[in-house]
Amino acid sequence: MKRTAKTLLLLSAVCGAATVNAATKQLANGLKNDDGWLQVQTHCSACHSLQLVTANSGDRTAWLNTIRWMQKNHNLWQFDETTEDAILTYLAKNYSAAKPQRRKPLPLDLMP
Ligand code: HEC
Repeated sequence: MKRTAKTLLLLSAVCGAATVNAATKQLANGLKNDDGWLQVQTHCSACHSLQLVTANSGDRTAWLNTIRWMQKNHNLWQFDETTEDAILTYLAKNYSAAKPQRRKPLPLDLMP
């Protein structure tokens, strides 16, 4: 009996660990493992894949604009303040503004 309990405990520990990739701290749902991921999964995966979320990036204002845009145009519901703050903090921290995507300008002598 004791042995079974131990085995079960070990099994659940192993299975629990399997859902989190230790190296990247990425959850099985693709989100980074940080405070607020549950709110994001709950509120941001109903209409589209979470991949659409994780493929984007921005600062807090950019994320807020995206949320307001969906609320205005795509029937995204309103969040209470705490939920909205958790979502914005999570997104701005883990999917922050990407580095500039533009290449450097061509040197003058290579200009057409
Ligand atoms: C009620 C439905 C709905 C929910 C819930 C929802 N979205 Fe969206 N979202 C949409 C629609 C519709 C689009 C446009 C999809 C397209 O262009 O194919 C979209 C697009 C996006 C985009 C891409 C914007 C762009 O510029 O192309 C991002 C990023 C995004 N959503 C993030 C989120 C986040 C973060 C949440 C949770 C706070 C969320 N979505 C929840 C409906 C929703």
